[in-house]
Amino acid sequence: MIIAVDGPAASGKGTLAAGLARHYGLPHLDTGLLYRAVGVAVQEFEETDQFPDRAVAAAEALDARDLRDPETLTTARAGSLASKVAVIAGVRQALFDFQRSFALQKGGAVLDGRDIGTKICPDADVKLFIQADSKARMERRARQFEARGEAVDRYALYHQIEERDARDMLNPHGGFYRAKDAHLLDTTQLSIEAALRAAIAIVETAM
Ligand code: C5P
Repeated sequence: MIIAVDGPAASGKGTLAAGLARHYGLPHLDTGLLYRAVGVAVQEFEETDQFPDRAVAAAEALDARDLRDPETLTTARAGSLASKVAVIAGVRQALFDFQRSFALQKGGAVLDGRDIGTKICPDADVKLFIQADSKARMERRARQFEARGEAVDRYALYHQIEERDARDMLNPHGGFYRAKDAHLLDTTQLSIEAALRAAIAIVETAM
């Protein structure tokens, strides 16, 4: 069973995907971490014209071990770098195989990201598209950062999230739209537990 979970930044897709993976005993890949790891690896070239080539090389060399440092990968800076390398066709191509082989492992998997239902696993058994309004998403992200002791400027964070959404949606090489057969789940008013129950109910009826 392959479950594809897509949605914008801080929509709750990662938490939901992890919950579904636990519930069904499946491995889970947060594909945003791949783009974040590539972005962080080439950050020193951000303002140079070497950036695209360096990013493709970093994506080709990416190893599962590079994803083990969530502290540096979950910062707002890493998210912004991720969305910059994500518009490079060669980066997406290099990361495609990594994601595809994860999805096709025996027994199935849960993957979350932006283009899982549209490009990586158009053949997924169940597709979820997670949505939440921008203010709710900003507030969730702010609390995550605060929980680990980081100071948060809510105004700046709101704009960062909107800017990242825009870059993702306009990405000519992306696939960030709701697949025709994806089930929409709006988590704006839902607790984590309620969202997970709703997601499980969708999976059960779709099977
Ligand atoms: O999901 P997360 O916020 O960690 O993703 C970071 C960035 O990586 C996104 O803003 C997007 O630009 C890129 N991304 C992508 N395709 C995916 C997952 C993430 O383009 N499947």
